[in-house]
Amino acid sequence: MSKGTILSGMRPTGRLHIGHLSVLDNWVKLQEEYNCFFMVADWHALTTSFEDTSKIKENTRDMVIDWLSAGLDPGKSAIFVQSHVHQHAELHLVFSMLTPISWLERCPTFKDQVQQLGEQGKDINTYGFLGYPLLQAADILIYKANAVPVGEDQLPHLEMTREVARRYNFMYDTKLFPEPQPILAKVSLLPGTDGRKMSKSYNNDIAIGASSEEIQTKVRSMITDPARVRKNDPGNPEVCVVYTFQKIYNPAETGEIAAECRQGAIGCVACKKKLAEKMDAVMAPYRERREALMANPGRVDEILAAGDEKASAAAAKTMAEVRNVLGF
Ligand code: TRP
Ligand code: SF4
Repeated sequence: MSKGTILSGMRPTGRLHIGHLSVLDNWVKLQEEYNCFFMVADWHALTTSFEDTSKIKENTRDMVIDWLSAGLDPGKSAIFVQSHVHQHAELHLVFSMLTPISWLERCPTFKDQVQQLGEQGKDINTYGFLGYPLLQAADILIYKANAVPVGEDQLPHLEMTREVARRYNFMYDTKLFPEPQPILAKVSLLPGTDGRKMSKSYNNDIAIGASSEEIQTKVRSMITDPARVRKNDPGNPEVCVVYTFQKIYNPAETGEIAAECRQGAIGCVACKKKLAEKMDAVMAPYRERREALMANPGRVDEILAAGDEKASAAAAKTMAEVRNVLGF
């Protein structure tokens, strides 16, 4: 039985890393219970990088291949590109008419980002960036989604979505839009190989479906207990990145590894080798699916075309209702 409709999305950032798997695993599960729409937010990518659009198309493909290799199923969910379904932009325009600027200016993500990017010398004081949450509201409400799996950082945008839905419904005396609720994704426990937050920009990430060589190189570069100089020095696994990964990828052996590390009975090289082997095995099915899709690029185009079609049909229906309510 369907529990309702879900819409979620990501900006096209290219290949994803294993820290994203907790979000994707959750999407894969939700496919069984909800009518799902998963979207590549390419218009949203423009809000912060309008001056260089050269990578958006390639990044879209790479990210969709990761979604599919993680188990998103085009037979169950609509997997599509935001800009291909023009009703997102149309509904965004309608919402922009009825939203007070003050709502957007006080959105915490807006203030944070303008400041953060400003410090990096990037000026994003644009009309489009101010409207970022409204475009997101349109993404969600065009499918009348009642649930949105997101990370905590997106909660202000969801709050805005509910406010916009309420305002539209109140203003035109209708019940057209639901007030969607967040489904909070579990936070990934994985640090990057250097112990900081995992991020492609720090080059401390491991890609979904990484090759065996890449896994070995990245695991070898992981930070261990810095107090351990010689192989038989006693170590402290609690301060070691390798150990954090062992807990996730090699749970059966972690107790033993911790004890041996504390006694100086296992060296870091051997410990890393064990981890790399386990990670390689976990990554193998992702890698196979990724390679199959890379070898058959037409398949990805077909999936996205089918997703566009399914999403467009639903979006067109809502947009017709929106116009009808407005008396157009
Ligand atoms: N703003 C989201 C992010 O940066 C991406 C996004 C765009 C989104 N539209 C959405 C997420 C609609 C959920 C629902 O991660
Ligand atoms: Fe880390 Fe393993 Fe070395 Fe201990 S033995 S410090 S857990 S890599």
